[in-house]
Amino acid sequence: MFDVQAIRALFPSVNRNDAIFLDNPAGTQVSRFVIEGVSNYYLNANANSGGYFTTSQRTDELVLNSRQMMRDFLNAPNVDEIVFGPNMTTLNMGLSRAIAQTLQAGDEVILTRMDHDANVAPWLLIARDKGLIVRWIDLDPETGRLDLESYARVLNEKTKLVATVHASNALGTINPIQFIAEMAHQVGALHVVDAVQSAPHIPLDVQAIGCDFLLCSAYKFFGPHTGILWGRYDLLEELPAYKVRPAKNKSPYRWETGTPSFETIYGTAKAIDYFQWLGEHYGQAHRAPFTHMSERAQSIHAGVAVSCEYEQQLVGYLLEQLATLPAIRVFGITDPAEFADRVPTVIFAHDDYTSHQVAEHLAKSEIYVWSGNYYALEVMERLGYAAHGLVRVGLVHYNTYHEVDRLMEALRAL
Ligand SMILES: Cc1ncc(COP(=O)(O)O)c(C=O)c1O
Repeated sequence: MFDVQAIRALFPSVNRNDAIFLDNPAGTQVSRFVIEGVSNYYLNANANSGGYFTTSQRTDELVLNSRQMMRDFLNAPNVDEIVFGPNMTTLNMGLSRAIAQTLQAGDEVILTRMDHDANVAPWLLIARDKGLIVRWIDLDPETGRLDLESYARVLNEKTKLVATVHASNALGTINPIQFIAEMAHQVGALHVVDAVQSAPHIPLDVQAIGCDFLLCSAYKFFGPHTGILWGRYDLLEELPAYKVRPAKNKSPYRWETGTPSFETIYGTAKAIDYFQWLGEHYGQAHRAPFTHMSERAQSIHAGVAVSCEYEQQLVGYLLEQLATLPAIRVFGITDPAEFADRVPTVIFAHDDYTSHQVAEHLAKSEIYVWSGNYYALEVMERLGYAAHGLVRVGLVHYNTYHEVDRLMEALRAL
């Protein structure tokens, strides 16, 4: 049985004080695995990469271990397809700049009205630089889902790239990502997936998704501040990466500009170790869909799957409770029959207060939520809340029913 109290005991910051962390889509707390891993790195391996001496060689071993863990987390075919960087946005800027060199004026790119700006602005910038045409997949404000008919309308033989989010950082909607990849490939376009908000909640499998690139960020899945780019090996080798001359011209190194953050890369492996632990302790019944993977990848994926099962129950409770407050309007999927298509991130408007006023009020009770647009500019525009944004409550598997009750009490007191 999934034991949330035992899980919380592994997260010192969650356990330490009275705070209620519902700001998870902006950044999660880390487990002891990560804290001890980063600390061990500094104690035993702190050096630059590529030297002849012990600490440098340990650094290289630990980074390789992190790439292997990340390969298993994403079920990637090849360890050299895992690129580490400062964060998702910086990695996507680098990727877009390299892809831009292969495109010509008049080529088309497709973006969505659901994406975080980190998977919009990089492509708008190269479109401006190269004279590309930008087309959009629309968002249906009523359902909180992408309008896939609009995708079919804009996709054509001039489309060279489709960039879509896997799970929205605002609405929480999970997109039919395999279908989007298949459609993109039918016209020979590349498909770039932003998996920043799916990584903490959905067992990821780049081979099953069928995309060409996928990006995520460890600090959203209980790890440190580090970004990860996965790309198909042939593309990572062929594309003209922007690099300094002495750096190795081989993937993944050609994409990792400057000295990487070794301590947080190692901490990322520890965040995945934690999922493995979860899978081994609570996820036996969740292994079946992953039996084609390595033993370790099975445990990791089962760990994500078991936490997701708990989160779906908890978000059901949160939505049920929010529905009892007439002043609150929730956007996105609220029907339990459709919960498989959402992560436990919920946005809402209050009739009498702006999102910032609500967040400030909750902060007084040590309840941490987000307000504003959280860089989901297109979503806010489409929902008609560009001015003040919406309140965002983001659950993860260390949150509890009691915390939801405390949130509701504070909302009722408004
Ligand atoms: C969906 C989504 N994509 C991209 C990003 C940007 O990630 P990073 O902060 O690693 O650049 C975020 C951050 O909130 C996000 O939620």
